[in-house]
Amino acid sequence: METLTKSIRVLRVGQRYVRDDRTLTHLCLVSRALGAEAIHIGDVEKDILATLGGVNRTWGGDFRAILGEPWRKVIREAKEERRAVVHLTMYGMPLQDVVGELRKLDKLLIVVGGPKVPGKVYHEADYNVAVTSQPHSEIAALAIVLHEIQGGEELKRSFGKSRLKILPSARGKRVVEP
Ligand SMILES: C[S@@+](CC[C@H](N)C(=O)[O-])C[C@H]1O[C@@H](n2cnc3c(N)ncnc32)[C@H](O)[C@@H]1O
Repeated sequence: METLTKSIRVLRVGQRYVRDDRTLTHLCLVSRALGAEAIHIGDVEKDILATLGGVNRTWGGDFRAILGEPWRKVIREAKEERRAVVHLTMYGMPLQDVVGELRKLDKLLIVVGGPKVPGKVYHEADYNVAVTSQPHSEIAALAIVLHEIQGGEELKRSFGKSRLKILPSARGKRVVEP
């Protein structure tokens, strides 16, 4: 697959009590690598823009982080453009029961929480989806849902023009400047 066939965006909601740059960076990297076009982050974390700019320049693609928008606005605009709002929560419906329906959607906003998720998010979501009914990580839940929704097609995607390209190899590291 050269290009993305779905328009998938990610929204990170939930108040953070301490800075957690690593989780945020990993949410961005997973979203970018696994077929999302952008992530909305409520906090204004300017460092993340520089990090992602560097990753895009080196490895290709035009994945974007959109900072500082209130989550309510992001969800309202998603609904206005008929983008399905899929909230990941351990309290939701099992992924395996709804994935067939999710695969039929072309435009999605996948919402992941932080330490505390406002109750309204559960009500605003079109789907509340659980990756097992056990507590775990938003990064892992996001990766599994992106993969399942796209049926593995996202793994074959080309990121286009880049400064470096990896030549996959069974052993060692092979990197070229195309
Ligand atoms: C570390 S959890 C904290 C959840 C928090 N206790 C709450 O209010 O729901 C952070 C995020 O990980 C995701 N998550 C954790 N377990 C999940 C699961 N089993 N299925 C789907 N998403 C999950 C959710 O998006 C959740 O908001």
